[in-house]
Amino acid sequence: METKLEGESLSPKNREILELFNGFSKLERFDRLKRLVQMGALTLDDVAFLEEGSPVELDLAEKFIENVIGYFPMSMGVATNFVIDGKAYAIPMVVEETSIIAAASKSAKWLREKGKITTEIFGTNIVGQIQLGRVRDFLAFKSKVQQAKEKLIESCNNEVAKGLVKRGGGVNDIEVRHIKRPDGGDMGVVHVLADPCDAMGANIMNQLCEYMKPRIEALTGEQVTMCILSNLVDSKVTRAKIVVRDIDQELAEKIVEGSLFAQLDPYRAATNNKGVLNGIDPILIATGNDWRAVEAGIHAYAARGGQYRSITRWYREQNNLVGVFEAPIVLGVVGGVTTLHPIAKMSLRMMGIESASELSRVCAAVGLATNLAAIKALTTVGIIEGHMKLHIQNLTIGAGAKEKEIPMVQKKLEEILMLTKRISLHNAVEVLRELRSKNESLTHSN
Ligand code: MEV
Repeated sequence: METKLEGESLSPKNREILELFNGFSKLERFDRLKRLVQMGALTLDDVAFLEEGSPVELDLAEKFIENVIGYFPMSMGVATNFVIDGKAYAIPMVVEETSIIAAASKSAKWLREKGKITTEIFGTNIVGQIQLGRVRDFLAFKSKVQQAKEKLIESCNNEVAKGLVKRGGGVNDIEVRHIKRPDGGDMGVVHVLADPCDAMGANIMNQLCEYMKPRIEALTGEQVTMCILSNLVDSKVTRAKIVVRDIDQELAEKIVEGSLFAQLDPYRAATNNKGVLNGIDPILIATGNDWRAVEAGIHAYAARGGQYRSITRWYREQNNLVGVFEAPIVLGVVGGVTTLHPIAKMSLRMMGIESASELSRVCAAVGLATNLAAIKALTTVGIIEGHMKLHIQNLTIGAGAKEKEIPMVQKKLEEILMLTKRISLHNAVEVLRELRSKNESLTHSN
């Protein structure tokens, strides 16, 4: 069966968005903003706010953390060309590393022409843990908790999670786990499983676990040690899938080999997964989400079989290349920074995000696309070419080049890069020094 090109099945609105992305990276900043307004991703107020340098009240900072002394402004860019589950996105990314946004956008452009990105989420529940460090009679403890399970769930939902229940979520299950202690004794762990709807759920889950603590103690006669949510959310896993149609078979083979390396070797898996997170963390930061929680969850999931592995895999299916990302990406679109911070709110609006699940799926898709860009580069031209060409801009500025000198220094550095496949700040400083001394001698001889 002939698969349709992504572009062919898109709505006129989505097509218009993609057209507005043509030549986006070559535009001046203000023209980029104009395009984002044209596609409906930004309002004129957003543009005015961004052009003023995104001023955020200092008082707001006091609401988020302690001992506030100011803000740390980071660059914010837009990943272009993404079509995920048939919807075109302008994806805000806040990140300090050069070339991530370019690589993601380039990958998305390739996929827009030759591929498809689809996503789904398995499960709805996040996990809370109640630890009983030393249980005297584990079997009796387990049976008491299991017998009271329905009543415990009911009281959690009535007393603590009322709001969640109203929105269709709440506590769904309670499980008892056994862990053997190093001294031969028994540790008991009660898992509370709840659907947090559009919240990330950390606060409500911690409240639920603490509410359960005295009830579990009274019920079992055992003593609770501590309560906290778990970031290893294997009960809510996000999957993104990319299919690249009719790909050059030699290229596909290289990407599959590169992926196999990351599946088998933890040293490579760590770097592979860092590349995936290059696509995820910047969206989490832009939307005010807890990226440490997502990172911890993803790494723990990557090691769940006892060996740290890649969270992506690429394989061939007939003439197609297929890539899959699978890991928990638990985040929120309501509550905390997400709701209060003007940039987080604007970022969600830019993408037209309607639920936490949609944002999680977008993150997975962008992570998988940046992974594709990285493995493609690594197994063909190498990382230096793409990465360092963009890095040259930073080196030029870092060396202290003035506006007028920048094009000449960049050109010379590009030549050095082509020739030696290497470039450093030292080169930039040298090139600038030579340029200035040449200009000086020209001035003297005139
Ligand atoms: C650099 O930020 C990310 C990469 O190292 C990822 C990878 O090796 O797959 C290029």
